[in-house]
Amino acid sequence: MQDHIIEKAVESLRAGELVIFPTETVYGLGADACNEEAIHKIYHLKNRPINHPLIVHVAHQEKLADWVKSVSDEAKEWIKLLSPWPVTFVLRKKEHVLDALTGGQSSIAIRVPHHPVAKKLLECFGSGIAAPSANPYGYISPTRLSHISEEWHTKVGTMLDGGSCEIGLESTIIDLTSKPQICRLGFLPSNLVSLMESNGINFSQLSNVKRLPGNVAKHYSPQNQLKVLTFKEIDSFLMQSKKNVTILSFTKPKYFKPIVYWIKMPSTAKEYAYALYHSLRKADRAGNCLILVEKPPLENEWQPIHDRLIRASS
Ligand code: TXA
Ligand code: MG
Repeated sequence: MQDHIIEKAVESLRAGELVIFPTETVYGLGADACNEEAIHKIYHLKNRPINHPLIVHVAHQEKLADWVKSVSDEAKEWIKLLSPWPVTFVLRKKEHVLDALTGGQSSIAIRVPHHPVAKKLLECFGSGIAAPSANPYGYISPTRLSHISEEWHTKVGTMLDGGSCEIGLESTIIDLTSKPQICRLGFLPSNLVSLMESNGINFSQLSNVKRLPGNVAKHYSPQNQLKVLTFKEIDSFLMQSKKNVTILSFTKPKYFKPIVYWIKMPSTAKEYAYALYHSLRKADRAGNCLILVEKPPLENEWQPIHDRLIRASS
């Protein structure tokens, strides 16, 4: 990425404008985290309820200290261990942190992205960038610049292209203000999940924290109706149905016919996560159709994918 484009994005942020930027998880819609008016622009553009708090992005772990206070030794250890991965930490906020960021809560959600463009932007900006995923509230998060709604192009100051997001699902959110608790599940390597589980961090009962947009039943949803079925159920549906359908499955359905649009899904959880949102958007673009998704395997590493599919089908 050329320096002058980063500089333009920094100027946009300083002028109180919004920027679109890539992270390794999904694209963010960013504003200067110290500028209340700019933060309100995010809520307005996304049509997001005002009491749903945002994530602050910073360039390095050392920058956490500018935003959070009184981190316990246990929390420090988890931060160190989880930091190489796409994880957002919920910690006690410092006094100066704006209520507009936190929904008036005493905690702040903060993350250090690893995408080189995000890192460079944050380093040049020097402060925190508040950013939710760059999609209208409730819709699928963008994992490529081409996913950004055309309507938004003229409403933001700068858009930075960082290719397609390597992870493809939103960050894991862990609340470290008291006993560690997972608020949202993202992609984590299975040995780390096992380590967390053996330390009493529960993955099956996601915290019921209020004001967690990722925690409402319907979220990350395509416009078309979506159902999750087994491969057998998909085939019996196709045998009887005359509807336009898009199928996201691991292998081609037996009763394939012209009214069926098939998207082949990868067989590993990591590649599936990478492909999921792009595939759901393709399915939506196929016009008015029902989306049938083959139920993925049940192993631990597929849990964040099940979580998103359940919400998308609510
Ligand atoms: O991967 C990601 O996390 C992306 C990239 C752009 O960083 N961001 C993202 O932001 O997914 P968003 O706004 O779509 O989701 C932020 C989540 C919400 O579920 C919100 O409720 C939660 O973070 N959150 C923010 N502040 C919180 C807090 N103080 N306590 C608990 N949850 C919080
Ligand atoms: Mg979001």
